[in-house]
Amino acid sequence: MSATIIDGKAFAAKVRAQVADEVSQLKSEHNITPGLAVILVGEDPASEVYVRNKGKQTVEVGMNSYEHKLDASTSEADLLALIDQLNNDPSVHGILCQLPLPDHLNEDLVINSIAPEKDVDGFHISNVGLLGTGQKSMVPCTPLGCLMMLRDHHGSLSGLNAVVVGRSNIVGKPMANLLLRDSCTVTIAHSRTKNIEEVCRAADIVVAAVGRPEMITGDWIGKGATVIDVGINRIPAPERGEGKMRLVGDAHFDSAKEVAGAITPVPGGVGPMTIACLLANTLTACARANNLPEPEGLTA
Ligand code: GUN
Repeated sequence: MSATIIDGKAFAAKVRAQVADEVSQLKSEHNITPGLAVILVGEDPASEVYVRNKGKQTVEVGMNSYEHKLDASTSEADLLALIDQLNNDPSVHGILCQLPLPDHLNEDLVINSIAPEKDVDGFHISNVGLLGTGQKSMVPCTPLGCLMMLRDHHGSLSGLNAVVVGRSNIVGKPMANLLLRDSCTVTIAHSRTKNIEEVCRAADIVVAAVGRPEMITGDWIGKGATVIDVGINRIPAPERGEGKMRLVGDAHFDSAKEVAGAITPVPGGVGPMTIACLLANTLTACARANNLPEPEGLTA
């Protein structure tokens, strides 16, 4: 039997609608408008698309969007001065510095200069430590989106065997921490893992976040398991015409869906959830800054 397709596009629209609802209440009851500042250094075309989408969706849910586009040659001192200004601006509740940064800028230094309570990416070392020790923090957007979809599909995740394939700081490690916090038994698998296919086959949940197109095929998946595919890879699609490309995940969708119980497609799975969770994090940061109750169901 074919797997249930987890519709991330529809789920993200639901999250955005909830955020918009809560933003409208904040405005009418407290005269507060959440604000998100996004910094883009340089002209990386993919980053420009992401930043444009973030700005558009921020405005659509009724928040203020502040875009800071800086020249690729911007000095570290100037970038840090801008972050300092945003850290001290009470109308800004969330700050995101789009990665990657040009080579002359120290990414760790820049991320760690963002005030942790405004770090809506959850990349600041304080937020990483808080998440790792099970304390309240800002949680990275992509793993948060994956967690929301898993909780929605399974209800409780307690006792489930989860394998995260990939050990990045942005997805793999925070994902593993979140699953552990929801009482899964967690394995992080990676390029050096022995018998990786067998490790994956034993899992109730496989989160694929390696950045290798279609690596995880159906024979790696246990019968009825849930597959969350974080990969977004562009591969040649000659069947669509010369020079055409198509998007695929890190899982091989057609074979995996024949074995899995549920699976997220690419596109239309995890991808749309990332910006929805960025908006959710901005709302959470705004609520915390104003000592108001946190929105329900939008945090980890
Ligand atoms: N570049 C690609 N994805 C991300 C993200 O989630 N956050 C930031 N800051 N930069 C990115």
